[in-house]
Order: sequence, then structure tokens, then C-alpha cells
Amino acid sequence: MTHNDLSHNHDGTQPHRGVSAVVAKEDGGFVNPGLPPHEYRQSDLDPKAERRAEKMVAGMFILSIIGTAIFIASYFLFTPMGYNLLAESKTLQAVKWSNLFTGIGLAVAMFFIGAAAVHWAKTLMPDHEVTEERHIYSRTNPVREEASGIIVDGLDESGVARRPLIVASMVGALAVLPIAVLFPISTLGPLPGNKLHHTFWAKAKKEPLRIVRDHDNTPIKASDVTVGSIFHVMPDGLTHENNEHDFLEQRAKAAAVLVRIDPADAKNQESLSNGYEGILAFSKICTHVGCPVALYEQQTHHMLCPCHQSTFDVTDGAKVIFGPAHRPLPQLPIEVDDEGYLVATDDFPEPIGPSFWNLHKDK
Ligand code: FES
Repeated sequence: MTHNDLSHNHDGTQPHRGVSAVVAKEDGGFVNPGLPPHEYRQSDLDPKAERRAEKMVAGMFILSIIGTAIFIASYFLFTPMGYNLLAESKTLQAVKWSNLFTGIGLAVAMFFIGAAAVHWAKTLMPDHEVTEERHIYSRTNPVREEASGIIVDGLDESGVARRPLIVASMVGALAVLPIAVLFPISTLGPLPGNKLHHTFWAKAKKEPLRIVRDHDNTPIKASDVTVGSIFHVMPDGLTHENNEHDFLEQRAKAAAVLVRIDPADAKNQESLSNGYEGILAFSKICTHVGCPVALYEQQTHHMLCPCHQSTFDVTDGAKVIFGPAHRPLPQLPIEVDDEGYLVATDDFPEPIGPSFWNLHKDK
């Protein structure tokens, strides 16, 4: 059926409004059923309902402005690293409150812009069904004039000019939202320098640094690590008391995992030599976009990132065998001390986490 069939009956007559059944014609084809009867909304019939809808739309735009104000205020009242009304600075609690309040503010701001637009369209914008024949567009003046006439008529019918309350609140909501984005930009920097190239493990350059279990900080003996097990580890001494000013940052960079493979299964001798009798330590931070790589398939010795399924082969120096990551997990060189505890002997050989700038991206 072509578009012409929708606007004219086969015999050339105009379709009738309200005819909804499709009737077969004797000579083939179907009678154009026309449009269903137009249903008027409450706001089309009752000026009070129209006024109420207008106030609701404006109210939603104003709620959006309030959401933006909450976002801006939260940005200064609940900072993770500085002043925080509800928690001590540089703690997980401070990060939590900062994320919560700025998130709520932004969600309210964006939700009510969308809700206002939908309510406006559903209750106040003209909703008459219109059919028009498709025709070839040309750039002749009459066509241009007709097109601009349609736009002017559309604006007129939308009633924008008659609703200054909605226009003022909408302009306010749409103007303050981008301003809110400027506040986070204002606190960007300073540049990271070479901070991304070092982690807390760098202390091992001076003297071997014990590897401890994450959270309870107990050291690990080589005999504790059996084939198939995985340990989530941190460097000894990385506590909040010792690193008040950058505790979270150091934890995020130093997170590592310990696994053990049968040396006979190793495909990468250099990686094996950086471990101790098959015990290997790798950064836990995915080289794709930095999720914690914490899923370990003990049969295949594959480590999986739950975010986008990058898979790293532990027997082959944590090389990427699947997924969007582009380089292996950096490996921590380890050995054991006199008491049999596992220690790191150096920092990771390259920056942990996502690749950046000129960091090599070969798999
Ligand atoms: S962050 Fe690990 S695969 Fe994307």
C-alpha cells in the first residue's frame, strides 16, 4: 500500500473520520478506514484543567532547578577529600555521602526536565492527528514559504507564546543544569605527574615488603597458597593510620591477587621467574577501565573481569585472551623472607589499570 492509499479512497473520494473497519472492495484493494475519532483531553475542554496542567509542568521545571541546586550544594557540603558534613574526610563514608547527595541532585534535575516535557506534550501540546501527502521537495520559493509557514503555525499551535510560566521555568531549568557541570570541572587537576607510575609496593625497592591479606592484614606463608586458591592482598603497612592523606588512592592502586599454578603449566617463563614456586601476584585492577578482576577459574587459571568479561591467562603472564582489555595485568615480583612469608621485592613494572597516553596497548 502506498502513502496515497492512506489519504484517498480508491475511487478518489476523501476518507471519512471515525471509520475504523478495513473493508475489502469488490474490485480489489481496501477502503481507506480514515482516522479514529479525535478524543479531547480534559485540558482541551476545561480551562481550569488547562491551567492546572500548565502549573504542573512549570512546577516540574522548578523541581528540576531545585535538583540542580541540591547537586551544587552537595558538591561543596559533602566532598570526599575535604569538608564533609556527615563523615570524616578521606574515608569511604565521605565518598558514600558525596556520591549519594550529588547523585540524588543530578537525578532529580534530569528526571523532572524529562517529566515536565512529557507532561507538557501529553496535556497541553496540540494532539490532533494530521495526514499529509508526501511529495517531492524542491527549493523553490513557494515551497520554502510553505515550510516556514508550517513552522510558524506549529509554534503558534503549541501555545508556547501563550504560556510564559512554562517558558520561564523551562529556560531556568535548562540554563542552570549546564552551570552545575562547571563546578566539578573547576576542581579538576592538578595533573597527576608520575603518580600513576608508582604504587605503595614501591617501598619494596628499599627492603622486601610483606604481602598481607586484604582487610585483616595478616601475612601469608607460601605454604598457605595452594593450587586453585586465590588471595586478595595488600602491602603490609597500608593502613588508614599510616596514610591518612591518600589512603583510598593508595589502596585503589595497590590491590593485587595471589594465585598458584603448577610450574609445569606455565606458558611464560619470565612471568614464572617473577613468582615463587608457581605462586604469582598480579594487579587486581583491570587494564580495560579499572574494575577489580576478582573471578578466578581454578581449572583453567583464567581471571575474569566481571565488568566487560576481559579474561586474563595467569599461566601466560596474565595475557589478555578475551575481551576489551588491551594489555596484561601488571605482575608483582615476589619471593619469601626468612620466616617463609611471601614478600614483594619491587613495584609493578608498569602503571596499573587502564592504559593511558603512550602506554603500550598490545595484547
Ligand atoms: S573493566 Fe574489565 S573488562 Fe572492562
